[in-house]
Amino acid sequence: MTKIVGHKGASGYAPENTLISFRTAITIGCNRVELDVRLTKDKQVVVFHDDEVSKLTNGVGFVSEMTLAELKKLDCEQDEKIPTLQEVIDVCKDKIDLQIELKADGTPEAVNELILKNDIQDQVVITSFQDYLLKEIKQLSPNLKVGLLFKTNEVMSEIWNLVDSVPLDFLAPFSGLVTKEFVDKAHSFGKSVYAYRVNEKELGDKLIKMGVDDIGTDFPKLFIKE
Ligand code: G3P
Ligand code: CA
Repeated sequence: MTKIVGHKGASGYAPENTLISFRTAITIGCNRVELDVRLTKDKQVVVFHDDEVSKLTNGVGFVSEMTLAELKKLDCEQDEKIPTLQEVIDVCKDKIDLQIELKADGTPEAVNELILKNDIQDQVVITSFQDYLLKEIKQLSPNLKVGLLFKTNEVMSEIWNLVDSVPLDFLAPFSGLVTKEFVDKAHSFGKSVYAYRVNEKELGDKLIKMGVDDIGTDFPKLFIKE
């Protein structure tokens, strides 16, 4: 059965990557929540998509150049605050699995430490568009499941070479690239497929029929009956 991954929590219904968004995804019954991580100037892991804060908060500046205390003064939509990864783990542990996207250098080591400290290795998968970040975390914790995100046909045709070099546990293409042939080939390599940005019911149903293992969506209610 295809798993439903709430993108940035349940970002179609709540401000992305905030605690309210993760709580909403739990209430809806998602199988997993996706979230993005970056490092602050004082090396704290925060859950935030952009490198710069002005699109998603009332502040200005780069996450990597601000301390956690500075970031905590900012408001996201609905007056939500930027959460730390630890705060998200506290909300999600034993309730829902986490899919952590490494967005910046330095995150593999810091994220790995938090995973070990909270003893949630079996509740977590890791993604990134950067294969070197996946290699780094895989070297630290070889049992962690990692998947490479990609959005171009060029990477798609190269992916079979990367499967062993990272090594990858699953493949994570943009939904528009996925074909039945690709899914079958991934499965023949023993790799599952997570397709991202599945925000229309028709597209999701088509991917589910192709045998895609996990779909990432801003609108999980499209696929989960209340
Ligand atoms: O789950 C994949 C997806 O999150 C990648 O794109 O920009 O939303 O982080 P983005
Ligand atoms: Ca993401």
